[in-house]
Amino acid sequence: MNAPWIAPFPVSRPRRLRRTETLRRLVAETRLHPDCLILPFFVQPGRKRRDPVPSMPGVFRLSIDELLREAEAACAKGVRAALLFGVPPRKDPAAKEAYAPRGIVQRAVRELKRRLPDLLLITDVCLCEYMSHGHCGVVRRRGGEAFVDNDASLDLLAKTALSHAEAGADIVAPSDMMDGRVGRIRAALDEKGFSHIPIMSYAAKYASAFYGPFRDAADSAPQFGDRRSYQMDPPNAEEALREVAADIQEGAEIVMVKPALAYLDVLQRVKATFRRPTAAYAVSGEYAMIKAAASAGWLDEKAVVLETLLAIRRAGADLIITYHAAQAAEWMREAG
Ligand code: PBG
Repeated sequence: MNAPWIAPFPVSRPRRLRRTETLRRLVAETRLHPDCLILPFFVQPGRKRRDPVPSMPGVFRLSIDELLREAEAACAKGVRAALLFGVPPRKDPAAKEAYAPRGIVQRAVRELKRRLPDLLLITDVCLCEYMSHGHCGVVRRRGGEAFVDNDASLDLLAKTALSHAEAGADIVAPSDMMDGRVGRIRAALDEKGFSHIPIMSYAAKYASAFYGPFRDAADSAPQFGDRRSYQMDPPNAEEALREVAADIQEGAEIVMVKPALAYLDVLQRVKATFRRPTAAYAVSGEYAMIKAAASAGWLDEKAVVLETLLAIRRAGADLIITYHAAQAAEWMREAG
């Protein structure tokens, strides 16, 4: 009866549902809404500072006063959540500014909470922006060789997360990729009265070349070697499931896959396997690629951004971290 491979008519024809915009929207399986977007910000010391990041047109390193203005504008466009990265005044081998009570992120969180209490604040918990050597953990020597010491890094990461919660962060997001950091952060938060603060872990974070522009923005490129001894190896997807399982077991409420576009298969498997709130990070290099092609007139920025975000949602992301968040929120609202 319904054997289209034998009889082409009359059978259901998918094209009948594509005839008008209204019909297409009626049967759309995936929808975009500003609620699922998270906008990253880079905050630095000083006043009235708004330094452009050359490889990320439209993205700036902002002093707190400028951050407040920019965040307010983003909220007006429909953004409801922000992710904060700090560019500290000085770096050292113990990342002291990462957990300083009046560090740059801690102050920014306090000010943002005062001025925009409804904006959800997520803080990136990592040491690379604060370490003189630019690695995400403590560097030690073994024999003649420098290495990133996993366990020596955990206390500093927990202190950093705690200082963010004390400042008023709504969610803390460890991005360092040390083993065991989620558990250590959870314990530190619980012990100090922050058992209500969720953890969004960068669970499957790959050692990716797509982070290049971010490292310009955050001034966090490693001074020697690379991050391949702690971030994930791009060939591995099974391992991503083990990373996510470990982070959930240690107390992560939200798990992330990063980068997004080149790892949609991983994202889909993570969502299908664990059914947890799942975030995807459309990283700096993804942003830079679209911006570069759009400015050359080779791609339609709005169409490509919305298609990309849709693809990330379709693959399984509940939340998307994107530098396009403010503009995308506006485009989504326009589309109604
Ligand atoms: C810090 C961190 C990085 C990113 C987010 N948190 C850089 C890195 O791991 O080198 C990258 C974000 C982006 O590229 O947009 N560890």
